[in-house]
Amino acid sequence: IGVEPPKGILLTGLPGTGKTLLAKAVAKRTSATFIRIVGSELVQKYIGEGARIVRELFLLAKEKAPSILFIDELDAIAARRVEDGTSGEREVQRTMLQLLAEIDGFNPRGNVRILAATNRPDILDAALLRPGRFDRIIETPLPDVDARKEIFGIHTSKMKLKKNVNLENLAALTESTSGADIRAIATEAGMLAVKENKKAIGMEEFDVAIKKVLGAEHRNCVNLKEQGVMFA
Ligand SMILES: Nc1ncnc2c1ncn2[C@@H]1O[C@H](COP(=O)(O)OP(=O)(O)OP(=O)(O)O)[C@@H](O)[C@H]1O
Ligand SMILES: [Mg+2]
Repeated sequence: IGVEPPKGILLTGLPGTGKTLLAKAVAKRTSATFIRIVGSELVQKYIGEGARIVRELFLLAKEKAPSILFIDELDAIAARRVEDGTSGEREVQRTMLQLLAEIDGFNPRGNVRILAATNRPDILDAALLRPGRFDRIIETPLPDVDARKEIFGIHTSKMKLKKNVNLENLAALTESTSGADIRAIATEAGMLAVKENKKAIGMEEFDVAIKKVLGAEHRNCVNLKEQGVMFA
């Protein structure tokens, strides 16, 4: 009906909320060619290298169309331009400008789609988020209590659990944790059971694991939130 489809899709959300996982799920579901690159791989030692890789990635995507080009951890090259005058900084900017040019240069109705992910949408250059570039933003939020229960289910499905392990209780005990935290808790509980020579993992192990994981990693997430990092 004559409406331009969005050109680029940007996944945003706190660390460990499943952005990369979601992109992998897309790759598995689609019959299109899926090309993945991590932003830091575009930050090269030699001048012009990053921009060259960007150009070649888009060429490859066109050649292999229908295709999806996924740029993970986009913030590595697309942070807001700050004039600090170092040549390293200018080089990163050059790479980003090349990315903007490539995005502008292709047809939104063509057979190439771009997908990107970042946990720092707040530091992205506004030029990237302009209509006609990454104009569709999808947030992966922290899981709510029902989602946490399901994620515990996924990450404990292959574990031997004692009868006293109740996924609902685990979900209730782990407010504002990410999917990655939950996986870490499940692994930690399993390791504790192994260390103690137990035949199955009980709620006791989960209690210790939750304290341990939430003590360390969780604080990072909360810190980001407290610093006022906003998610679209
Ligand atoms: N919704 C979920 N369901 C099941 N597992 C999840 C979910 N979210 C995260 N996980 C687990 O956490 C791991 C890390 O998630 P992922 O790498 O996708 O996070 P991310 O959002 O890309 O984080 P970052 O911003 O740090 O790159 C996944 O491999 C998976 O094991
Ligand atoms: Mg990721």
